[in-house]
Amino acid sequence: MDTPIYDFVKEYAAQKSIRLHMPGHKGRLIEGFLGGSDENEDFEFLKSLYALDITEINGADVLYDSKGIIRHSEENAARLFGAGRTVYSAEGSSLSIRAMLFLISLYAASVGEKRLIAAGRNAHKSFVNAAALLDFDVCWLYSQEKEDNLSCLSCPISCMITPEELDNSLSQMPEKPVAVYITSPDYLGNIADIAGISKVCEKHGILLAIDNAHGAYLAFLKDICHPMHEGAHICCDSAHKTLPALTGGGYLHISNKAPRLFFDMAEQAMSLFASTSPSYLILASLDILNDFLFSKYPPLLETLSVKINTLKEKLAERGYILIGDEKTKLTIAPKPYGYTGYELADLLYKQKTVCEFADPDHTVMMFSVQNSDKEIDALSRAFLSLPKRKEIRAKPNFHLRPKPAMSLREALLAPKEELDASMCLGRVLAGDCVGCPPAVAVAVCGETIDRDVIKCLEYYGIKKCSVVIK
Ligand SMILES: Cc1ncc(COP(=O)(O)O)c(C=O)c1O
Repeated sequence: MDTPIYDFVKEYAAQKSIRLHMPGHKGRLIEGFLGGSDENEDFEFLKSLYALDITEINGADVLYDSKGIIRHSEENAARLFGAGRTVYSAEGSSLSIRAMLFLISLYAASVGEKRLIAAGRNAHKSFVNAAALLDFDVCWLYSQEKEDNLSCLSCPISCMITPEELDNSLSQMPEKPVAVYITSPDYLGNIADIAGISKVCEKHGILLAIDNAHGAYLAFLKDICHPMHEGAHICCDSAHKTLPALTGGGYLHISNKAPRLFFDMAEQAMSLFASTSPSYLILASLDILNDFLFSKYPPLLETLSVKINTLKEKLAERGYILIGDEKTKLTIAPKPYGYTGYELADLLYKQKTVCEFADPDHTVMMFSVQNSDKEIDALSRAFLSLPKRKEIRAKPNFHLRPKPAMSLREALLAPKEELDASMCLGRVLAGDCVGCPPAVAVAVCGETIDRDVIKCLEYYGIKKCSVVIK
């Protein structure tokens, strides 16, 4: 597969043109940085990086008015992911999520419907702030809580809505939402039945948008289960989370079955929220990724899946409780084994192994085809040598269903003050959301902070809240 963006950037660097355009480093690192010297290894490395770092110059195409090398590269990506149209993001899924909501709001206007969206409650904060800015009403979907204290599905990070639950919820809503928004995979590695959910959406005549930030790789498994394959109309992927791409690299994918308006307005939707100086280092990394995904990636992913599965089997045999369906994510619920999620992550950190995320109940580790056998073996040894301790019984004892007192937008734009969380009972949240560590909402703006919210904030060690001034 060709790599038009990377080729352009590389050739431009080789030309050594006089750069009378942004960025200000002019493709060089001058003496004075890092005590600069050509013998300094860091200096040499950074010099080659700066040479490739450009933004939208003559001939380099325009990210959100693409007609040249960027459009060509995006078409390569669309073919790989099975999308009707793929638009690049140099600002992660956060940007694509804002664009998705804008497109849904345009669609609602075009068919004369309200900006009302039904969303799984574990939506990332970028969904909440986009919904607030665009003045959506959100009808939150909660999953049937599992009382099982090991799987901890009652924590705010997870909210796996089943097709049946969605069907029931939609049937009972007084007003039909214009779209359903589901986060899958979630941070813990649970994957929703997107194919089933898409059938329910079809039955109710509703669009389906998926936050697939954690699931770009799903398009390359033997059993493809990427949202573009499973029936979603639109989704975002963070290439940088699971694929070998630079941080910030992401996609907005639009399915062939999506309304025409999504295709026509996709670039405008992205540009509404994006920087006008996209990083070509990030775009070039998405571009060269296409070739890797096309030519090398699937068998490597298959091998990785087998290795992680073997690791999971060994850990389960040793007595660890594992969560989630993802083949490249390892989530441990370590309390039954006698540790908190933080303790486990700290122990690994001391062995120079850095996890993705930890909270009192979970330790989450993400793997990609870039991880070596040696690294996976070291992790396995670390876990297998850890003695089992007395089970920790403490578990979350809150039931989060905060009630809205005003709209998301009204609260976000209202005059606000920051208070100690313990002082906020009965007050209306004004910050976009107060989140437990991976930016998932405990409460969202406009909701009244009740006792369960305060208990939850205490549980996750969140000390401050921004509330609407009375
Ligand atoms: C579920 C989910 N959605 C969206 C995002 C935002 O993605 P990005 O960091 O690529 O902007 C994240 C980030 O961690 C996430 O976990």
